Amino acid sequence: MSSDQIPGYTYGSDEVPDAPISMDEFERLQQTVLFDEDDEEYLQLAGDVLKDQIDDVLDVWYGFVADHDFLVYYFTDGEGNPDEEYLDRVRERFGQWIRDTCDTPYDEDWLNYQFEIGRRHTREKKNEVDDAEAVEHIDMRYLVAFIYPITATIREFLADSDHSEAEVDAMYHAWFKSIVLQVTLWTYPYVPEENW
Ligand code: HEM
Repeated sequence: MSSDQIPGYTYGSDEVPDAPISMDEFERLQQTVLFDEDDEEYLQLAGDVLKDQIDDVLDVWYGFVADHDFLVYYFTDGEGNPDEEYLDRVRERFGQWIRDTCDTPYDEDWLNYQFEIGRRHTREKKNEVDDAEAVEHIDMRYLVAFIYPITATIREFLADSDHSEAEVDAMYHAWFKSIVLQVTLWTYPYVPEENW
């Protein structure tokens, strides 16, 4: 499925508001996580390695969520009933997000969409694009804590390639930096602007 057919995926469209920070400020954040042009190249390489494994990656991540009631909770009505359609629709966008994470360098459309993803985790916009009837907000502590599983679990998929140990390591660190960078951007709607 091409990305413009993914329900709710609005990357690059006029529906996505401009980011509240400039590309210069974004550049400073990239420097803060030591993200440079080598990382951009290693993410492109990671994209090649991951492109045929996306469903397997998603199986691992969805399995991890499914194993923890307090995480599944965010896909439920709050009374123990998961919204299966919502889970499926988000899964498709999650797959596209893996491709977008590896599709460097990051430009203004990419930056704008990060703030959109952030909003979609909060009561500002959660459930909206899928018309889901699920709990209205994902607590920020889980977003931040999720950095580790989303990072650690990718390594075996990166290693499942002909690349050397050093290259796998470089792809892994580029991925890790990108996840920290993205989750940092996603915290924007959670805190008063003057504190962010
Ligand atoms: C949406 C990634 C943390 C639950 C999404 C999307 C992505 C994503 C890529 C789809 C964005 C789009 O609409 O295009 C991540 C990553 C996380 C993280 C990388 C942390 C590193 C969490 C946590 C939960 C969660 C901790 C709670 C279990 C959801 C839900 C949606 C969503 C319910 C749908 C939001 C909506 O209604 O539009 N996430 N997520 N996410 N995520 Fe996360």
